[in-house]
Amino acid sequence: MQKIIAANWKMFKTRAEAARTAREMRAALIHREDRGVIIFAPFTAIAQVANALDGAPTMAAGGQNVYPAQDGAFTGEVSPLMLRDAGAAWVLVGHSERRHILGESLDFIAHKTAFALAQGLKVMLCIGETLAEREAGNLESVLKQHLHTALAHVQRPVSTDTLAVAYEPVWAIGTGKVAGPAEIVAAHALCRSLLGQCLGESVAKRIPLLYGGSVKADNAPTIMTLDNVDGVLVGGASLQAETFVRIATA
Ligand code: PGA
Repeated sequence: MQKIIAANWKMFKTRAEAARTAREMRAALIHREDRGVIIFAPFTAIAQVANALDGAPTMAAGGQNVYPAQDGAFTGEVSPLMLRDAGAAWVLVGHSERRHILGESLDFIAHKTAFALAQGLKVMLCIGETLAEREAGNLESVLKQHLHTALAHVQRPVSTDTLAVAYEPVWAIGTGKVAGPAEIVAAHALCRSLLGQCLGESVAKRIPLLYGGSVKADNAPTIMTLDNVDGVLVGGASLQAETFVRIATA
């Protein structure tokens, strides 16, 4: 499976900064056919990123959020059609910052996932436990709840090139505390088997499963070779082209 290296730029970068960084990434990665690259840009810069990546067959732009309706009176929200119109092929759903800072519920995430897929966007679904949940021994139940609820309304059979799952332990996001190899292998094996329960084994084994949480140039080579790790979702270290390219070519 082609490894997927995804950049989550969060609430960073003006349009000019986004275009420049995307162009630098494109120049360095366009010939790496063994890597799929997705840049999840802020809404205001998606079009610039999509333009910068135009014609690069394994690179795509994505949005960081979507509202589950075609259009309507939803002040501040953005529809799948608007994202696609701006040049996004992908969207992030269920990121822990949206679950925990913006208070998104399991049910809302489920509706976003199903609606975005039905409207032709590819979805990278983020799941992961907090430190308190892990310490209470609830890793499996949390991952099961996140996966099963998010995929509940998704039309079957699921096309394996339109869905990816990112396992991101909340305690490792933006903290510099990366999960250890054994923790990642155990959690990814769990995710793969839970995906099998939801979607059937043959589909589950072809869904890209990414690790996210303090991925950096120095830990990416190890993480990327672990069992069931099909790529990485990178926040802080994706803001500079040079560091992101080092991760993507690890
Ligand atoms: P981080 O963020 O790499 O800065 O930990 C990852 C993410 O939020 O997807």
